[in-house]
Amino acid sequence: MNVLGIETSCDETSASVVKDGKEILSLVIRSQMDAHAAFGGVFPELACRQHLEALLPIVDQSLKEANLKPADLDLIAVTKAPGLIGALMLGVNAAKALAYGWNKPFIGVNHIEAHLYAAMMSNDTFELPGLGLVISGGHTALIQIDAIGQYQTVGGTIDDAIGEAFDKVARLLGLGYPGGPAIEELAKQGNPEAFSFKAGRVSEKPYAFSLSGLKTQVLYAVKGQGNKKESPTLLSDQGIADVAASFQKVACQDVVNKTLKAAAQLDLKHIYVGGGVSNNRFLRELFTKEREKSPKNPIEVHWPAPLLSLDNAAMIAGLGFHRYLLQGHSDEFNLVASPTNKNLFL
Ligand code: KG4
Ligand code: ZN
Repeated sequence: MNVLGIETSCDETSASVVKDGKEILSLVIRSQMDAHAAFGGVFPELACRQHLEALLPIVDQSLKEANLKPADLDLIAVTKAPGLIGALMLGVNAAKALAYGWNKPFIGVNHIEAHLYAAMMSNDTFELPGLGLVISGGHTALIQIDAIGQYQTVGGTIDDAIGEAFDKVARLLGLGYPGGPAIEELAKQGNPEAFSFKAGRVSEKPYAFSLSGLKTQVLYAVKGQGNKKESPTLLSDQGIADVAASFQKVACQDVVNKTLKAAAQLDLKHIYVGGGVSNNRFLRELFTKEREKSPKNPIEVHWPAPLLSLDNAAMIAGLGFHRYLLQGHSDEFNLVASPTNKNLFL
């Protein structure tokens, strides 16, 4: 089955053709990052306008690169939730129009579920059950994956998502948007032991995440105890790099510790990581180091292939293939996009 995927939930416009949930025939991603950088974060109206301009040319390009015509497609898959509502509506309506015009079935899929699937489609085969870890700008979630379409929540954030914390700390340090890659780069020149920051613990919820306290610790380290975001920075350039390194270490250690603990407790041998923060090399190395500390409990950590960590339409097309087979029919034309994740896939 040749599936056209469409992704417009945030600030990447993407289209991709994937065969049988796995083989990527084309993947086109246009990032709007430069347009949003001036605002220090994603500006929703601007995102919609950019998707509107970019989407159909990108769909054409993805078909051309796959060497296919619309008639060769078997299904159209589109992100229906969660994300910026205007941006999602644009993608969903485009998918409906193309499905109607080309007389093809279509299916709306969940963006978070697709981030989990990205690591599965990046391997030759994948084994389930497993533990899914989504670490992105909008989500930090630990999810037990019994099968595609069957999930149980293990833990999640009670405040900021980890990518959001990277972005906010980067802004505090005067680094650009998106903050994750900027912090990772600067952290290479810093001492991760210079500041003893702590990630939050949530009482009686060992797998819940809380990073807002860590953010405040960073604020006080940079601007002085009790000061505000607007206050002047007290640190030298080296001090800023030390904060970046210390923050990155604590945030990543928190994720790695809780994930490995949950996998051990639930007796899950495969971890599938997805979302933009999974690009972080420090995090990947930390996972490897910590995992090797328990040789008697071999756990494999699976990462998305390059281009499949950040928002992309290949993971949407890939998951759409499985979801369509499970569902057995096209979605209806009254399908609506949703900004939240409520009950949409768990
Ligand atoms: O998955 P994604 O593209 O969008 C969402 O669905 O949210 O993730 C974007 C997030 C941003 O917060 C960005 O700062 C973070 O992923 N990110 C990183 C890295 N690359 C992207 N965080 C840490 N280290 C990185 N190398
Ligand atoms: Zn995403």
